[in-house]
Amino acid sequence: RRFKVVVCRNLGPDVMSILEARPELDLVVWPQDSACERSWLMENISGATGVIVMLTDKVNAELLDKAGPSLKVVSTMSVGYEHIDLKEAAQRGLKVGYTPDVLTDAVADLSVMLALMAGRNGGTGVDLVQRGQWGTFSWAPFGLCGPQLSTTAASPTRKIGFLGFGRIAQATLARLVPFGITHCLYSSNPSSLPNHARDAALAKQHKLQAVSKVDIDELSRESDVLFVLAPGGGETYHIVNETLLRKMKRTSILVNASRGTLVDSDALAKALREGWIWGAGLDVVEGEPNVTIDHPLVKEPRCVIVPHIASATLETRLEMATRAAQNLIGAILGWEMPSQVNLSHVS
Ligand code: GLV
Ligand code: GLV
Repeated sequence: RRFKVVVCRNLGPDVMSILEARPELDLVVWPQDSACERSWLMENISGATGVIVMLTDKVNAELLDKAGPSLKVVSTMSVGYEHIDLKEAAQRGLKVGYTPDVLTDAVADLSVMLALMAGRNGGTGVDLVQRGQWGTFSWAPFGLCGPQLSTTAASPTRKIGFLGFGRIAQATLARLVPFGITHCLYSSNPSSLPNHARDAALAKQHKLQAVSKVDIDELSRESDVLFVLAPGGGETYHIVNETLLRKMKRTSILVNASRGTLVDSDALAKALREGWIWGAGLDVVEGEPNVTIDHPLVKEPRCVIVPHIASATLETRLEMATRAAQNLIGAILGWEMPSQVNLSHVS
């Protein structure tokens, strides 16, 4: 018995050979380097048993209908899965695979990079040198100065805030400890119970004055750097809006390495333009990849934007692609699926 499997991107020779080595699979692979075209996917999905998708491929009722009853598994090469309609997947009894854990460190690394880049005028500095303008700037005593992430004798307190406090946020926290940060504040899903024992253990482990769950109001007011590291989707849509941004410190930095939909871009552009906050570091922007040079955030000099590359290390992408292949093979052949989205609460 053979199973048709659609693969929406070339996953590289190492991972493609894992798939090719399974005699049970008939692979249909998107042949180009660009994102898989919808029409190609719609055409090829019918009769498939499994599909490997990227976060750029929308898996909705239309696609699942087109696939038909043969479909058993949707495996995404991403930790986020808001591009997959879980309700529709659950109704059809599908298994959904994703790639948590393997990208935690890479995303935490990039989150720290964005905080430093945004605070220290990294984007402006690089741009200045690349335009041959170093000479016009020289070494001005207060030129290109920004707020310091690490504590100093004169400024011994640093409060780091997290909107969402899962694996990636906690890995980011661990990386910031050597900067001398003193407090960790976070807000998370209002329905999740406070975990005082975990928070006390984290504070002790990292020698912080406190790790505390706070409401969004306090989080916005108190954070020196606010990291947005929560899932996308309807529940978190524009959670960073004008009201929140207006409460933030004028020297604060906003970092978003989750999904663009969490931040209202117009409100953030206004916040930067009017100096409500100091700067922003973004790995994701709502409406990406259609973010052009006339986008209000691209025009803001204190906004450092990189094109959704938080997990983009050679090591991590290989692990993600491998995990996506293992999830697919596991679901089809009835083996263990290393990382399966829990659909038991979805109805
Ligand atoms: C990246 O954004 C992912 O969800 O893996
Ligand atoms: C900076 O380069 C310094 O020497 O202070």
